[in-house]
Amino acid sequence: MDFKLRKAEPADVSDILRLVKELAKHEEMEDQVLLTEKDLLEDGFGETPFYRCVLAEVQTETSSDAETSSGSKVVGFAMYYFTYDPWVGKQLYLEDFFIMEAYRGLGIGSELLRHLSDLAVTCRCTGMMFVVAENNEPSIRFYKRRGAEDLSKDEGWRVFRFDRDSLLRMATPTEE
Ligand code: ACO
Repeated sequence: MDFKLRKAEPADVSDILRLVKELAKHEEMEDQVLLTEKDLLEDGFGETPFYRCVLAEVQTETSSDAETSSGSKVVGFAMYYFTYDPWVGKQLYLEDFFIMEAYRGLGIGSELLRHLSDLAVTCRCTGMMFVVAENNEPSIRFYKRRGAEDLSKDEGWRVFRFDRDSLLRMATPTEE
């Protein structure tokens, strides 16, 4: 199947949100997606982008009696940003990675990873980091076949978060 990868543009935020939700659903956590298209637009395409996205797009053809029209459809994406490890330097952090079910197994995901690897190497990153849900066995196998190390298992790291309430408790109180 013919597909192309391209950098996301502001007009793509509805497709990005659709795919973010599909991945969250796949992970059975859809109700945790609170983000809106407006947030994605401001956060990814403002003065300081907080994330970047590469989209996978296929050409589509619809035909009626009278005519055939062609278009394109976004079928997958990778959302990423750069972080910094004080021991080894620049890292590409892969936040979300998803190909719609009907388009899996066609090499699109591998090509997206190749694209991100090229980018990481060009930017002199020393690694690509990501978190995978423990029960997402197919993806764990997919990553491991490509050489990924399981740091939770091998080095014992655990993932933590302060949620907004915790932040507010620690933050400087605002005057009423
Ligand atoms: N579905 C999935 N995999 C298949 C299928 C199929 N129907 N048929 C064959 N495969 C095999 C392929 O042969 C290939 O094997 P390989 O690892 O030996 O090369 C592998 O599975 C898929 O390779 P690709 O076609 O290059 O990758 P794909 O386009 O399917 O994308 C991805 C991989 C993104 C993991 C996709 O399967 C997916 O969206 N999964 C569900 C969402 C998910 O779990 N995402 C990762 C979450 S972790 C994170 O976001 C950091």
